Amino acid sequence: MFEDRIRNVSLRSRVLSVDEVQGWIHDGMTIAVSGFTKSGDAKAVLKALSRRISKTNENTRIRLLSGASLGDTDKILAEKGGIFFRLPFQSEPFLRDRINRGDIEYVDQHLSETAEWVRSGWFGKIDFAIIEATAITEDGGIIPTTSVGNSPIFVEKADKVIVEINLSAPLDLEGFHDIYVPAARPHRKPIPLVNVADRIGTPYIPCSPEKIVAIVLSTEEDTPSTVSAADPDTHAMAEFIKEFLVHEVRRGRLPRHIGPLQIGIGSVTNAVLSGFGNSPFDRLELYTEVMQDAAFELLDAGKVQLASSCSFTLSRSMREHVLSHLGQYQNRVVLRPQEISNHPEIVRRLGVISINAALEVDIYGNVNSTHVFGTRMMNGIGGSGDFARNAALSIFVTRSTAKDGKISSIVPFVTHVDHPEHDVDVIVTERGIADLRGLSPRQRAREIISHLVHPDYKDELIEYVRRAESLGGHTPHVLSEAWDWHFRMLKYGDMRSLVHAARSDVLEFASQYRREPF
Ligand code: COA
Repeated sequence: MFEDRIRNVSLRSRVLSVDEVQGWIHDGMTIAVSGFTKSGDAKAVLKALSRRISKTNENTRIRLLSGASLGDTDKILAEKGGIFFRLPFQSEPFLRDRINRGDIEYVDQHLSETAEWVRSGWFGKIDFAIIEATAITEDGGIIPTTSVGNSPIFVEKADKVIVEINLSAPLDLEGFHDIYVPAARPHRKPIPLVNVADRIGTPYIPCSPEKIVAIVLSTEEDTPSTVSAADPDTHAMAEFIKEFLVHEVRRGRLPRHIGPLQIGIGSVTNAVLSGFGNSPFDRLELYTEVMQDAAFELLDAGKVQLASSCSFTLSRSMREHVLSHLGQYQNRVVLRPQEISNHPEIVRRLGVISINAALEVDIYGNVNSTHVFGTRMMNGIGGSGDFARNAALSIFVTRSTAKDGKISSIVPFVTHVDHPEHDVDVIVTERGIADLRGLSPRQRAREIISHLVHPDYKDELIEYVRRAESLGGHTPHVLSEAWDWHFRMLKYGDMRSLVHAARSDVLEFASQYRREPF
């Protein structure tokens, strides 16, 4: 039975029904699963657990660790109240809502760091690791599917491993993975990766067969990603970035074959990468954590030569295309654990050019990628911090406004800082590009306001800086007004000064807001 998928003969007797296996999961357990940005996630057992909770109405809530966001399992399990703690990333609206209500504790973490926490025993006992696999080797090695995530460290540290063999994952996925697991600290050796496509580990996750307590079979495909198509704004951002990089090469500040690109998640970054299809750059390389549709478009077009990633996060049509043409990517694409795909030391050594999206940026270059109005979690920092701090060039992109122009994405002071001014080299909106390198805070404010801001907000921002500078300081602010725009949005549903009432009104609202018992 499934000789090609379960090559260790003794393990074939451990194939169990998903209903039997879900019965092993109890309230309060720590469950660590495969899955990274909706790909390669363990789907069957947790969904069966959700069905059980729904049927029995029992109070079973687990601590759920993963690589990053799961597909619809995050939603289904959260809907049944089955999660009390989630780490390290999510992007699911229902789960997000439960987190923002305070029903689920959420730790939003640099994605390269989770493995270190697990390795050092932060979470105590991991009751089960549940890993989606293409196949299991003769020695018990687990061949992942479309992502690697944190699966290697989960397998190493869990008491028991459940493998979900996904029969819809082509066997040709074997050979894409390169599993290198750093040793414990402090006597760890340097990671021997010097080129994007170097193979430094094994093509499977090592696992002793005794640890595999059950194998379940599934056929469910990854939840498709839903990135929006490129539009005039993202096209403009891509053009600014390409022009800027060409300029940097001309000035000798970047090599002719520019460093590997890291492209963050989201519609904007996907569209920006797509724009590289029409660029003077060729033989591009990606050293990234997620390959969205645009990455494969560029591989197909021959623009990208080699790619290292942690996952494939694809639309339905692109997934079908990629999985049915795996042969053409086999020696060009490597899937790694996230502590390697995002490793700060490697990112710095390779000279990665990172391009990530921001929710809002401020006049001094601080970036908020995660918290709407400083309080409500959107997705999480993901790998953006791993890359931004260590990249040779750290670029952030955002539209100049959100919500039909009611929100300016360039504000006096961001309401939450994911990427401080020190980690941000260049910011791009559809209006222009601001190169912040080597500029003092006051110079940065001028660069940002001149090039990035929507006209509806420009005059007021200039006026704010003028008054702030009159108060002095290295990074001038009028602290009592720094978040007025956000208060205005909360109160009037629009940040624009045209609709905002007298300032005293805003201030009064702000003081009420502060009095609310949180
Ligand atoms: N205030 C409030 N909402 C804002 C906003 C702002 N300043 N800017 C954008 N938004 C809203 C948009 O209106 C949109 O809302 P909708 O879903 O209701 O339509 C949503 O945020 C997403 O914005 P969009 O412009 O479509 O961008 P995106 O899909 O490219 O996502 C991030 C942008 C920042 C949310 C996303 O890139 C992210 O989660 N980043 C953090 C993780 C990361 O960077 N990982 C990188 C390594 S993979």
